[in-house]
Amino acid sequence: TRRSVIRGTGHYLPDRVVENSWFEGRLDTTDEWIRSRTGIERRHFAAEGQMTSDLGLRAAQAALQRAGMVADDIDGIVLATSTPDFTFPAVATMVQAGLGMTRGFAYDVQAVCAGFVFALANADAMIRAGQADRILVIGAETFSRIMDWTDRGTCVLFGDGAGAVVLEAQEGAGTSDDRGILSSDLNSDGKYRDLLYVDGGVSSTGTAGQLRMQGNLVFRHAVEKLARTAHTALDKAGLTGADVDWLVPHQANLRIITATAQKMGLPLDKVVLTVADHGNTSAASIPLALSVADGQGRFTPGQVLVAEAIGGGLSWGAVVLRW
Ligand code: ACO
Repeated sequence: TRRSVIRGTGHYLPDRVVENSWFEGRLDTTDEWIRSRTGIERRHFAAEGQMTSDLGLRAAQAALQRAGMVADDIDGIVLATSTPDFTFPAVATMVQAGLGMTRGFAYDVQAVCAGFVFALANADAMIRAGQADRILVIGAETFSRIMDWTDRGTCVLFGDGAGAVVLEAQEGAGTSDDRGILSSDLNSDGKYRDLLYVDGGVSSTGTAGQLRMQGNLVFRHAVEKLARTAHTALDKAGLTGADVDWLVPHQANLRIITATAQKMGLPLDKVVLTVADHGNTSAASIPLALSVADGQGRFTPGQVLVAEAIGGGLSWGAVVLRW
């Protein structure tokens, strides 16, 4: 059968780094509070005029380079974002143009922090269906544009950035020992809208709006749902927590990540952690973490990786793959 294999990863972070101490003079908060409650130490913010597509393009170029491919090799782009440059066209089409591609398809997926997991599962399904042989899957965000800078409960948590992977079809895969994406599990429950949303948009206020979150409630859902979706995806692949070499979680909060790893029976040295340096970059956080860890040579062929995320919707899910 046909399976999708990751051939390359890449990422891009804007130059501007903002330490926790930056917030101390602006809000009633401290570096100590942010560190101990979230694990976040610093985050990157996009420069004025720097858009989500600019970050996504740089990440895509880096992933193509590591894959040893050029833009003409790619059949399609699936980009996960909740902070598009414009209402339309899709950010993916601007990345496509930036790469100089004039063929293939390009569209966005919107599942907030779970966006990359949804996009990866979507691209994998297209590859297995024979719709494409090579797809760039990107997560790119500029959450700094939708922050309420007077709300200490949210604005200290998020950062900007982008990550990308090149997925390629591989024929002849048969068992869970073969490389590639083995399974995925996707979920949404729209009754939880009020826990995490942006209070503006095209057909409501006509403005971009700002992020609103009941953090402690999101926290509880995250701890409950992430380990479960990871186990469901593992089960579909015929694997268990004991088979996992690397957990690559959405990087929202170190305490959520630690609790999830614990529920899965994984020690923290099997978890890729970038939250300290990146903050929560929403749909970009998993491909950023994949690219950082891949760049450090931490993954070896044959290892089992589990990526999981939860975000606004609520939407949550997991993807299991053999590196
Ligand atoms: N500095 C100092 N105090 C703060 C800050 C801050 N930056 N933020 C909140 N507080 C205060 C609160 O006001 C509250 O004070 P009170 O007791 O006087 O009312 C106190 O800290 C405790 O607040 P909680 O919200 O209960 O604190 P908690 O330990 O839950 O930590 C946090 C808050 C970090 C937001 C946590 O709940 C969390 O990480 N939740 C998950 C958030 C998340 O992952 N969101 C992203 C999902 S992905 C997506 O789709 C975007």
